Amino acid sequence: MAILLAACAAISQQKAHTPRADDLTFHNLRVLPPNITHDELIATMRGIARSLGTRCNHCHVANPPGAAEEFDYPSDAKPEKNVARTMLRMTRNINAQYVSKVNAHGQTVTCFTCHRGHTVPEIQAAEAPAQP
Ligand code: HEC
Ligand code: HEC
Repeated sequence: MAILLAACAAISQQKAHTPRADDLTFHNLRVLPPNITHDELIATMRGIARSLGTRCNHCHVANPPGAAEEFDYPSDAKPEKNVARTMLRMTRNINAQYVSKVNAHGQTVTCFTCHRGHTVPEIQAAEAPAQP
């Protein structure tokens, strides 16, 4: 998980236009470590959103207008949030059980490895170059 977080944090170095969640304490973490720092969690979320080419609202339900927070982050009302939990576990296992045993190029699998800026990964291979 540390490796996944580092990768996501690296992705998030570029400024993202995302709502602030500075005054939150976390109430409903089932996959990420319970002692994750605020900065690590937000960096992870920004990395995930960027990898999927989406914004926080893809997984988090909005609060009613006028609420202090734009989103109800602990809520599990959006099914995409639970899919993302499955994906977090999958990615962690891919790295722990397989990629770490190769480790020839120093890479790890992240959300971006498959998603490449799409919520659902593209399955068509890029068009082959024209035959000479
Ligand atoms: C692809 C889905 C997805 C996107 C996009 C996403 N999140 Fe999350 N978020 C999750 C999941 C899954 C969890 C719960 C992780 C767990 O169970 O350990 C979570 C948890 C959180 C929490 C902790 C809530 C609590 O108290 O338990 C915050 C805060 C949060 N996200 C903020 C954000 C912000 C800010 C953005 C946009 C930059 C964002 N998220 C984008 C899936 C997403
Ligand atoms: C090994 C490739 C792979 C990796 C790595 C991966 N995903 Fe996925 N993801 C998929 C595939 C394939 C689907 C579509 C599954 C289907 O057919 O429903 C998907 C679907 C999803 C969806 C549902 C999208 C929608 O709108 O219905 C979410 C959310 C998601 N992934 C989040 C993540 C997150 C977050 C990560 C990183 C922690 C991640 N994925 C890593 C392959 C991957």
